[in-house]
Amino acid sequence: MKRELVFEIIRVTEAAALAAAPWMGKGNEKAADKAAVDAMRTVFDTIHINGIVKIGEGEKDKAPRLFIGEKIGDGSEGPNLDIAVDPVEGTALVAKGLPNALAILALGKENTFLQAPDIYMEKIAVGSRAKGRINLDASVEDNLREVADALNKSVKDLTVIVLDRPRHNQLIADIRQVGARIKLISDGDVAGGIATGLDGTGVDVLMGIGGATEGVLTAAALKCLGGEIQARLKPRNDTDIKKAKELGIGNIDKLYFTEDLVRGDDVMFAVTAITDGELLKGVRYSGNFATTHSLVMRSKTGTIRYIKTDHTIIRKPEYFPKDIFNCG
Ligand code: FBP
Repeated sequence: MKRELVFEIIRVTEAAALAAAPWMGKGNEKAADKAAVDAMRTVFDTIHINGIVKIGEGEKDKAPRLFIGEKIGDGSEGPNLDIAVDPVEGTALVAKGLPNALAILALGKENTFLQAPDIYMEKIAVGSRAKGRINLDASVEDNLREVADALNKSVKDLTVIVLDRPRHNQLIADIRQVGARIKLISDGDVAGGIATGLDGTGVDVLMGIGGATEGVLTAAALKCLGGEIQARLKPRNDTDIKKAKELGIGNIDKLYFTEDLVRGDDVMFAVTAITDGELLKGVRYSGNFATTHSLVMRSKTGTIRYIKTDHTIIRKPEYFPKDIFNCG
């Protein structure tokens, strides 16, 4: 993929974040998501790619835009690319004004992303220094001792990020038993996974069960950051198993490594924060201006760019439709 694309794709996540951010704290998850989806889709039409959505808003009959299989880009040049998006990762975070809601886009060559079903997935993820030291099938204690050793820390100084869900009661008890610290989050395990790969976030490990599509996005980010994720689908019933089978997944118990979730070494990952968080500041508005903070990365080179952008609202009507700014 041409390296210039990194500057193009950031416009897509910026547009989604700018559209979702006015809905912060307004208690309306669906409206925030719809605004971000529409903005993302609109700006995609100005990007010079031939893309196809592999991870998106769901099946065509349920999602009018950014559905799986939708063709994306102006089609003017370039090879076919795989697109994985989450216009709002953490819709409840936006609705409640909580930290770490993100607009996310990952790009890869054809057949890069595992077409994951919309079901749960068990995950463990770490940054580059602890790569090769985790094993989803090992005990919590063994994993945390290995990671602590890799990071040259004692286990009690490790911080593990976990979604705050009843299904994690045993996991949380096991982590406490080993003595590591825990950061419970109400939503947004992609942000948690990315945080393991970046210095200064204070997060060392992500553990627990979240969405499978979020697992693929986390893998794309960690591939750029040199980290690692291991994962396994966690179907709750026959319907979930059927969803996986429909996507060609025969072995439901398969252990996925980073390379299985995101294949090859040419991936780009862009994220713009909607609300404030450990990774990035959220969208700020001031009069005719709005400011976004984004991160864009390339797996080929491992370059990580932090991009702060000032947008002039009146000059970008496609980014700032009137109905969004009179929302809620
Ligand atoms: P949405 O933005 O789609 O609501 O996802 C938020 C999220 O917290 C993900 O980060 C996580 O993987 C998943 O939901 C967990 O699912 P659940 O809320 O069902 O436990």
